[in-house]
Amino acid sequence: MSGKDYPDWLAKTPIHQIAKTDGEVGEVRIQDGHLFVCQGCCCGNFDRGFMPIPIVEFKGQWERRKLRRRFHLTISGCLGPCTMANVVLLNFGGRSTWLHSIDSAVDVTLIYDYAEAMLHAECWLVPPLGLQRRHFQRYLVDSIEQPCPDIEAALST
Ligand code: FES
Repeated sequence: MSGKDYPDWLAKTPIHQIAKTDGEVGEVRIQDGHLFVCQGCCCGNFDRGFMPIPIVEFKGQWERRKLRRRFHLTISGCLGPCTMANVVLLNFGGRSTWLHSIDSAVDVTLIYDYAEAMLHAECWLVPPLGLQRRHFQRYLVDSIEQPCPDIEAALST
């Protein structure tokens, strides 16, 4: 996908040149965030009692919304908190948001709408109401305990 295919607000991300240990220089696009969707030993595993993960919807919406240059998507192995399946980890602006029980196309839309709201606001936001009951703490320093802007307030300014 070329730069002209992106709306301005999604196209403008810097590329840094970083020296590697072998003397070569690698180019890294600097991004705002990253979504990890767990597809490990438990998440999405029907035999262990968990709902399927809407992987096709995650990939499809990520492509259609043209988020690639600012917000990356990774379908990952086990992220750790298996008992909370189905788990996703959303990193944005240096903060981590853990969500559980993600199992529908509606959930995927809520997650990408949330990510796009943060991209527009250019800061981490409290998850929207539809995701708040599935937001849980995973790290000692975790977004769930940090004061931060409210999503509706940030979007109304
Ligand atoms: S398999 Fe998803 S958290 Fe372990």
